[in-house]
Amino acid sequence: MSTPVAIGTPRRLVEATVDGRQVRVPEGSTILDACESVGTDVPTLCYGDTLTPRNACRVCVVEVEGARTLVPACSRRIEDSMSVATDSERVRHSRKMVLELLGSSVDLSTTPGIAEWNERYDARPERFGPRAEPATMGERDARRAGEHTVGDGTTAETVEQPVKDDNDLYVRDYGKCIMCYKCVDACGEQWQNTFAIGIAGRGFDAGVSTEHDLALPDSACVYCGNCIEVCPTGALMFRSEYEMRQEGTWDEEKQSQTTTVCTYCGVGCNVTLHVQENEIVKVTSPHDNPVTHGNLCIKGRFGYQHVQQRRRD
Ligand code: SF4
Ligand code: SF4
Ligand code: FES
Repeated sequence: MSTPVAIGTPRRLVEATVDGRQVRVPEGSTILDACESVGTDVPTLCYGDTLTPRNACRVCVVEVEGARTLVPACSRRIEDSMSVATDSERVRHSRKMVLELLGSSVDLSTTPGIAEWNERYDARPERFGPRAEPATMGERDARRAGEHTVGDGTTAETVEQPVKDDNDLYVRDYGKCIMCYKCVDACGEQWQNTFAIGIAGRGFDAGVSTEHDLALPDSACVYCGNCIEVCPTGALMFRSEYEMRQEGTWDEEKQSQTTTVCTYCGVGCNVTLHVQENEIVKVTSPHDNPVTHGNLCIKGRFGYQHVQQRRRD
């Protein structure tokens, strides 16, 4: 006799409008889901499809008719009869401000989508003036809450600092960090439960840190790379990608992606191999996999050297 399969209760559909267009999405969907259902592009940075929203960046804000404030599309649930405007003057103004504040203080050169969004919202981060000199190694980590010194206004304050390069597998370039918390959440209770990293400091001096700012090899990090998987700016980067970008050889147009099965153990995680000129250059994992949700362990993420040894001249 066959075993019945529970399929759960079907979700009621919610009817609303997005920029005047009718949408029908399952109850519990976010405004972002509703926008995507009709092909409306909403920029996101701190949103992660495998993580609980943090509402940290506010670049996704939209205007809901009758609401006093703009709301983050990535976390606000859509409701019956809701009327959402994604491109009103207020929305455009807010997104422009977010993009300019981030762009003037953070290196967004490896953040996908930024150039297009800057153009769309007429964001000109350079109008805040030339960037202040980057901090020296360890200087930002040594700052204490309440010690922040405001600049003289001739330069734009920046979080730029030297790259933390302390292990063979990945580098941390916190001059590219927008403080979205995604790496912290992936390392902590949402996925890895390792809690190797957290947020230290306050305000503009806050940053991602290991306990007591230890080098990664001395910290609790288990090198799963799940933080790299979710980082939206390239602040966390495979060493292979980092070195190829330095050499000027990183070229995503030349890369193919093949999803296969990790052979290290019986769990059978899906791994997606990014290959450029017959060389594996990094490994990701499909976010829609119902078991792993984009997460891997050190073996699946970095253990491809039995296939090849990256040349280090
Ligand atoms: S590699 Fe894994 S354990 Fe290490 S900081 Fe990233 S998420 Fe945490
Ligand atoms: S390192 Fe990346 S994932 Fe972590 S807070 Fe910064 S931008 Fe977000
Ligand atoms: S993407 Fe929605 S608040 Fe950052």
